[in-house]
Amino acid sequence: MLAYAIMHHILVVEDNPDILEVMRDLLEGDGYRVSLACNGIEGIEAFTHEVPDLIISDLMMPRLDGFGLLAAVRAQASGAGVPFLFLSARTETAITTRARALGADEFLFKPFAPEDLLVAVRAKLDRRRTLQLFDTRSAHLQTVTMLANTIEAREAYTRGHVERVQTYALALARALGWSAEALAICAFGAILHDIGKIQVPRRILNKRRPLTHSEWVLLRRHPEIGARMLQGIDHLHDAIPYVLCHHERWDGNGYPARLIGRTVPREGRLLGIVDSFDAMTSDRPYRRSLGLERALSEIRKSANAQFDPEMVEAFLNLDFAALGVS
Ligand SMILES: [Fe+2]
Repeated sequence: MLAYAIMHHILVVEDNPDILEVMRDLLEGDGYRVSLACNGIEGIEAFTHEVPDLIISDLMMPRLDGFGLLAAVRAQASGAGVPFLFLSARTETAITTRARALGADEFLFKPFAPEDLLVAVRAKLDRRRTLQLFDTRSAHLQTVTMLANTIEAREAYTRGHVERVQTYALALARALGWSAEALAICAFGAILHDIGKIQVPRRILNKRRPLTHSEWVLLRRHPEIGARMLQGIDHLHDAIPYVLCHHERWDGNGYPARLIGRTVPREGRLLGIVDSFDAMTSDRPYRRSLGLERALSEIRKSANAQFDPEMVEAFLNLDFAALGVS
């Protein structure tokens, strides 16, 4: 607990010096760094000096009360997401509604048990960490999508491919019961799967006639090129199996490593299905879309050969109308 908690900074605002002392001992004892303030004005000054990870504040205080402090904190961009815990006497319950409307996260009623305070603090900090991770991921995903679309634009006839593949991949991963963490990585992996094509010349990507042997060799390098591109990027590292293994096959006849059956990472097995499905249901210069029914029948026929049969089963049961495929 200590190693995790020591990272966090908590601001405690309370006009009763005895309670302030007790709170400081309690929180420091649990490994937090603590700043103290005796009223709302001092609380704002401390907040401005260093934005804390969490604020615990009394309600009734001289100079500026807890409501004033909360409103001032929420009015600043840096304070909008900081968890705010109110301490109040039970007799003040009627005004908890007002505090919640102002954006308070939680109430602790005096006198409170030390463990109740620590449990509330840990829960709020965990929640904040999760939200921050989500925000960071959304921002990264937008950047990565822009990059993937730029690369995709080098191919003349694949507009919308990465977004559609992402939609199908997430739908299939959900149907297979993958965890929320795995789904978050799937969103990145599906978008990035063809990123290695950046090193494949445009004339090869857009060639209408059959590729020569050397052109084919070059095109088939894109999974390894893409995987190498992601290797040094911490937050994209987990997406590598999607990039590296989306052209492997269940029967061992894929590339680049000719992996077979379950030795193909599940990410590669999943993406192989949805990538092929999108290719079959999109118009290309040399052929029209097969249409949903024929594409599904092709996928069914390739179970046990190109694709993992269990994943094919789950894929065929997806609600394609809801996914915008008709
Ligand atoms: Fe590919």
